[in-house]
Amino acid sequence: MTQRVMVAYATKYGSTAEIAEVVAATLRNEGIDAEAAPASKVTDIGPYSAVILGSALYMGRWLRDARRFVRRHQRALRERAVWVFSSGPLDPSASERDIGPVPSAGRAMCRIHAREHVTFGGRLEAGAKGRVARMILEEDRGGDFRDFDAITTWATATAAEIKALREGS
Ligand SMILES: Cc1cc2nc3c(=O)[nH]c(=O)nc-3n(C[C@H](O)[C@H](O)[C@H](O)COP(=O)(O)O)c2cc1C
Repeated sequence: MTQRVMVAYATKYGSTAEIAEVVAATLRNEGIDAEAAPASKVTDIGPYSAVILGSALYMGRWLRDARRFVRRHQRALRERAVWVFSSGPLDPSASERDIGPVPSAGRAMCRIHAREHVTFGGRLEAGAKGRVARMILEEDRGGDFRDFDAITTWATATAAEIKALREGS
C-alpha cells in the first residue's frame, strides 16, 4: 500500500510553504503519496504514516501554528515517524553547516520523539510588514537564501527513510 505523508508547515510570508511544497513534490517523485498543508488546517493526522513539520523562525522561535500543531497532535505524532525542519537564516549559513533546532523546536521534538531536524535558509523580500522586517530590509539584509538543491536532497533522503519504514514493518 502507498504510504501517505503529511508535510505540515507554519509560515508568515509564504516562503516556508514553498519549501514544504517542494518537499511534498519530491516525496511524490519517490512514489510516496505526500501532500503539504498549513499546520493550522490539519485536523487529523490519522491517515498519515509519517509527518514532516516545518516552521519559519521568528525571534528565535517556531511560529505559534507549529507549536500548536505539536500540542494538538502530540499523542498521534508520537506513534508516527516525524521529521522537522526550520527555515530562517537570511544568509548562506544553513547551506554551509548544520544549524540545530531553536530551544522551542528542540522541546517540541522531544515531546513527539521526532527523528531529525534540519535548518534551511529563509527568504525576506520587500513588502514584508513589521518594524523588525522593515529594519532588516533597510539594512539590505533581506533576500532569498533558500537552497532548493539542499531541500530536494534532504527530502529524497527522507523519502528513502520513509520507504525503509514500510519494508521494516
Ligand atoms: C521579525 C523577524 C524575525 C526573524 N527572526 C529570525 C530568527 O530568529 N532566526 C532566523 O533564522 N530567521 C529569522 N527571521 C527570518 C525568517 O525566518 C525568514 O524570513 C523566513 O524565511 C520567513 O518565512 P515565511 O516566509 O515562511 O514566514 C526573522 C524575520 C523577521 C521578519
